Amino acid sequence: MNSDVPVQVVHVTGARPNFPKAAPVVRALGARGVRQRLIHTGQHYDERMSDVFFRQLGLPEPDENLAVGSGSHAGQTGEVMVGLERLFVASRPGLVVVYGDVNSTLAAALVATKLGIPVAHVEAGLRSFNRSMPEEINRLVTDRVSELLFATSPDALVHLGNEGVDPARVHFVGNPMIDTLLANLHLFDVPLVRQQLSLPERYVVATLHRPANVDDPGDAAELTKALHTVADQVLIVLPLHPRGRASLAAAGLFPHPRIRVVEPQGYVEFLSLVRGARAVVTDSGGVQEETTVLGVPCLTLRAETERPVTISHGTNRLVTREELAEAVRALLVTQRPAAGWPTPPLWDGRAGSRIAEVIARFVGAG
Ligand code: UD1
Ligand code: UDP
Repeated sequence: MNSDVPVQVVHVTGARPNFPKAAPVVRALGARGVRQRLIHTGQHYDERMSDVFFRQLGLPEPDENLAVGSGSHAGQTGEVMVGLERLFVASRPGLVVVYGDVNSTLAAALVATKLGIPVAHVEAGLRSFNRSMPEEINRLVTDRVSELLFATSPDALVHLGNEGVDPARVHFVGNPMIDTLLANLHLFDVPLVRQQLSLPERYVVATLHRPANVDDPGDAAELTKALHTVADQVLIVLPLHPRGRASLAAAGLFPHPRIRVVEPQGYVEFLSLVRGARAVVTDSGGVQEETTVLGVPCLTLRAETERPVTISHGTNRLVTREELAEAVRALLVTQRPAAGWPTPPLWDGRAGSRIAEVIARFVGAG
């Protein structure tokens, strides 16, 4: 990049779910000739939680990596803030773009706002109304200070309206996570991933990492019991997030002959697994959305979701641990639709270019 030209846009990413959301926005801004930089906070740092996404999704190498690593909420958020303040003071970008609801999102939004640099929030307005989730606090605060709010679903518009956000700042653009999914659809190879992981034709994918499911030993034990009952019926493949590894192992989830615990998967491998699954059991935000578009039945082990559109327009259903085994059993005896299920409005693969159009106008490059 030509260092004489001022940077117009800085993207801040840090954790796994940020990368598939940022990729289409970075690409679309690049196509418009907007001068941009990408910062990685280092919140996630394992090869399988970070680097693999940069390679597979065509994200540019980060211009800076703050390498903050893991820590308490305050420790991690504070380290990101200190690192970003140094960079933003030195470069004074015209706009800082943040994604989703992780600690890096909140930290970047706070630092930029206090320096008088406008913030754009991609995935604004989602609400679980459960303030015991760290993500809900991150969403509320980030939206409060953002200048541009990019909403992925109509319910988000309602929430932002109810909170008194000026509608002129809110843009309903669709879902960039789904841009990434649709752009890579041709790479999702079910037979290949089944062969690589020695999976039978019929299997269930599980991903679990929410503190409410895996942190407390009692919750981990209940989850283990529920998954063992599912495994009585069907093989489970579980790409295990590092957060749950110790607690679920201690609860005796594995080793188990019908629970295949594997490392976190690359994006292409993971979506290949999901595409071929009879059902997905999850507490992930992104996975509720991806299953919706792929038409794969999704059972979400949570009491509420900030993504209700995946229930009203998709395949998602909220279940308790007690309900899980019966819900899987019911899915195993029903046929998945071949195609033609309804998808949420504007989840059409063009969210990145809609976002880029608004941003380019905002920074005077449109
Ligand atoms: C974070 C987000 C969560 C998101 C999830 C996606 C916050 C508050 N939470 O949760 O919203 O759904 O990412 O994956 O921002 N670890 C590793 N290697 C890594 C990263 C983490 O081993 O590369 C381990 C560390 O032990 C760490 C733990 O995972 O303490 C949790 O990591 P952290 O980033 O704090 O939160 P997540 O649970 O990953
Ligand atoms: N993902 C992946 N490999 C995995 C698990 C997840 O590539 O083993 C991808 C998937 O696209 C998912 C995204 O990472 O939507 C973010 O997932 P995560 O569950 O970590 O975060 P959340 O969406 O819950 O914040």
